[in-house]
Amino acid sequence: MKVELARAFQELLTAKVRYKLYYGGRAGGKSFAFADALLTLATSKTLLIACVREVQNSIRDSVYKLIADRIHYYGLDNEYRLYEDRIVNLKNRSKFIFKGIMEHNAQYIKSVEGVDICWCEEAQKISARAWEILNPTIRKPNAEIWLSLNREEEADPVWKALALKPDEDTIVRKVNYYDNPFCPDNMKKLALKMKQENFEEYLHVWEGEPRREAGNHLIARMDVFKAMSNEVTVPLNAAVLLAGVDVARFGDDKTAVCLRRGRQVLSLQTFTKLDVVQVAHLIAGIIVDHSPAKVFIDVGGLGAGVYDILISEGFAEVVMAVNFGERADNPERFVNKRAEMWARLRDWLKSSLPVKLPKTDGLVEDLTAPQMFFDAIGRLQLEAKSEIKKRLGRSTDVGDALALTFALQNVDFLLKANGKNRDYAFIDDNVYL
Ligand SMILES: Nc1ncnc2c1ncn2[C@@H]1O[C@H](COP(=O)(O)OP(=O)(O)O)[C@@H](O)[C@H]1O
Ligand SMILES: [Mg+2]
Repeated sequence: MKVELARAFQELLTAKVRYKLYYGGRAGGKSFAFADALLTLATSKTLLIACVREVQNSIRDSVYKLIADRIHYYGLDNEYRLYEDRIVNLKNRSKFIFKGIMEHNAQYIKSVEGVDICWCEEAQKISARAWEILNPTIRKPNAEIWLSLNREEEADPVWKALALKPDEDTIVRKVNYYDNPFCPDNMKKLALKMKQENFEEYLHVWEGEPRREAGNHLIARMDVFKAMSNEVTVPLNAAVLLAGVDVARFGDDKTAVCLRRGRQVLSLQTFTKLDVVQVAHLIAGIIVDHSPAKVFIDVGGLGAGVYDILISEGFAEVVMAVNFGERADNPERFVNKRAEMWARLRDWLKSSLPVKLPKTDGLVEDLTAPQMFFDAIGRLQLEAKSEIKKRLGRSTDVGDALALTFALQNVDFLLKANGKNRDYAFIDDNVYL
């Protein structure tokens, strides 16, 4: 049997991990690839495969039909027998069973003893309770749990359990219709139509972004995606180059460095396991190589040490200390500097002229994470970092590095001081240059 598994799904067959989670929008090829990969395995060795959902009212609710279709497509009709509720390989006795996790509890648990691979289709619908039942029942050594889903909410239970902070026993992969080499043209047309008519809905249905964001978020997902799909190249003399540095606070945080020139973010990189001296040298290297007009360093926590080293090495002109908790430039509108910088970032994303963000890992999640509030005297306040960390499973490091580039409201003077001619085609007064 020879299957054509799209590249995005190869790890279904090759990765030696317990949890394989594939998510994304419609027509990413998830269901077909899972069925094909399972058939490949069940044909080559004896396996018990459970295809489960939260509730399965009838076999029609399951992936039974898809698996049966693929058996037929590969000409394996003589090798597999289709029973009413299961599919059996007559040569090696591999078996597919189809179950609802929340039905007939005791019976369900008995039936999945000895399962080698468990496929949870539509796994975004699996409740926390069902996951608690399912996970420990798949207990054979080297058993695997495969999950295919399109995220519904920010914190779908299975997402929370596996994907927020994947461990070494978990792979999390995103696949969308444009990753599916078999995606039919009519599907692509439907995707593009919705993209034009209802971008927000498109992001969920076709790009696999969660639909609901609970709470009142400062930055809209849509604005981040727009900025990521824009092409903007700001000439060297049109705006000053600024750097933001968010220094790791605790062991598990990353140090993030952002370089932004006006409406274009040139790079947004993260570094792990660097000590204060190493970060300082990294920044010194960036200053020497790229000559940013200012480097804004978060000095809450370890950043203070980085700042001190850079000052002592003669970079006092260019580095500037920023403390997220310090007073805002406009204290009547913002509770602190952090809220003010992030609000400027939000305005920048909403600017009338296009802005450009790179597709850095974690950037969408970071930027859309903070919720906003207004205090008793109407000042904008952001959700506490510790609260965000609880929800996101990590700090918003890349988001903070970008926000730091907005520490100064007006940096025009830096460009003039450089004696360069402005390229006025690139100036937008609404944007923090
Ligand atoms: N291996 C394949 N061979 C042929 N067509 C495929 C294959 N994989 C996907 N497709 C096509 O892509 C469409 C979407 O795939 P599907 O698995 O249903 O995506 P998802 O489960 O991610 O929504 C299918 O309806 C089918 O037309
Ligand atoms: Mg599907």
